[in-house]
Amino acid sequence: MSQYNIAAIPGDGIGKEVIAAGIEVLDVLAERDGGFRFSFEHFDWGSDYYKKNGVMMPEDGLGKIKDKDAIFFGAVGAPDVPDHITLWGLRLAICQPFDQYANVRPTRVLPGITSPLRNVSGPELDWVIVRENSEGEYAGVGGRVHRGLPEEVATDVSIMTRAGVARVIRFAFKLAQSRPRKLLTVVTKSNAQRHAMVMWDEIAAEVAQEFPDVTWDKMLVDAMTMRMTMKPQTLDTIVATNLHADILSDLAAALAGSLGIAPTANINPERTFPSMFEPIHGSAFDITGKGIANPVGTFWTACQMLEHLGEPRAAARLMRAVERVTADPSLHTPDLGGKATTRQVTDAVIAAIQGDNE
Ligand SMILES: NC(=O)c1ccc[n+]([C@@H]2O[C@H](COP(=O)([O-])OP(=O)(O)OC[C@H]3O[C@@H](n4cnc5c(N)ncnc54)[C@H](O)[C@@H]3O)[C@@H](O)[C@H]2O)c1
Repeated sequence: MSQYNIAAIPGDGIGKEVIAAGIEVLDVLAERDGGFRFSFEHFDWGSDYYKKNGVMMPEDGLGKIKDKDAIFFGAVGAPDVPDHITLWGLRLAICQPFDQYANVRPTRVLPGITSPLRNVSGPELDWVIVRENSEGEYAGVGGRVHRGLPEEVATDVSIMTRAGVARVIRFAFKLAQSRPRKLLTVVTKSNAQRHAMVMWDEIAAEVAQEFPDVTWDKMLVDAMTMRMTMKPQTLDTIVATNLHADILSDLAAALAGSLGIAPTANINPERTFPSMFEPIHGSAFDITGKGIANPVGTFWTACQMLEHLGEPRAAARLMRAVERVTADPSLHTPDLGGKATTRQVTDAVIAAIQGDNE
């Protein structure tokens, strides 16, 4: 029997609630499958750890998780700790050194969930967004001088490298090639940003030569928001820079019904380091501790983790269970307009896994 060693980092707020639900579901799934099991090691890193120790994770933190098969991550963010400290101190402090350069964000309208788009009943919206996850606008390059003085200067410099752009665009072409429609949209802003984004476009055209069976087009990011809203059926796989995809994927999640159901995988495709799986949402201070966080985004990212670990049958079983549950409006949490609790949704997904005979 295979054993998968997973680092569980619930983080802050509802991250703790949804990761607990995700672990419960994954253990039931492993038992139902019989071919593998999980060993979770829990790490209490996050804002509470920061308030005690002055850092979001210990100095040797990466060493403690570098040999794991995957990282199962909740969310970071606390009302009394600045967001740039929580984000750079934990999430980005893992993504960047572990070279998780492809951030993969599937979006679909799951059964029973209503899209705010009036002409979308389900199949018209089935996308995967690939976000460049290691450089670009979030490279961390920049600084502030003359703080507080009238002549203060602050810069955030977007860095694009040929190697960094080529590898994420190649990853996106491969992913598009593996999907039935073999269709890729490359998002850009090369009309206004005339250096790095022009190189981005040129590299996309070069990499496209390696994938003659993939149909691709290019779209300015502003026009992309319109196309996602007005013509969602014309899109399939999408690749965009760190900032552009960050924004577009929140729009995608909203168009698919709720941020609470959206998953993401931070992938190191070469498998030199573990990849990290997390729901897209943050720590949601407004609902923390109320027991009403939607765990579906976490369950869906658990499917991505199972696929990455080489367990596609278990991933498909979990996705079937999630879809059976979303199809029943009495099992919708308040973000989807329902009254169900995290506990009820988790129990229903567990029951659906146990009752699944495929
Ligand atoms: N990956 C991350 O760790 C991550 C991502 C986004 C935001 N954050 C942090 O989270 C904190 C709160 O940020 P925010 O409010 O902008 O974003 P958020 O995603 O935490 O919440 C936005 C809204 O969506 C709702 N929501 C989010 N997830 C939900 C779920 N699973 N079920 C039901 N409702 C859900 C919240 O209640 C809130 O109304 C900030 O500190 C921010 O920096 C962290």
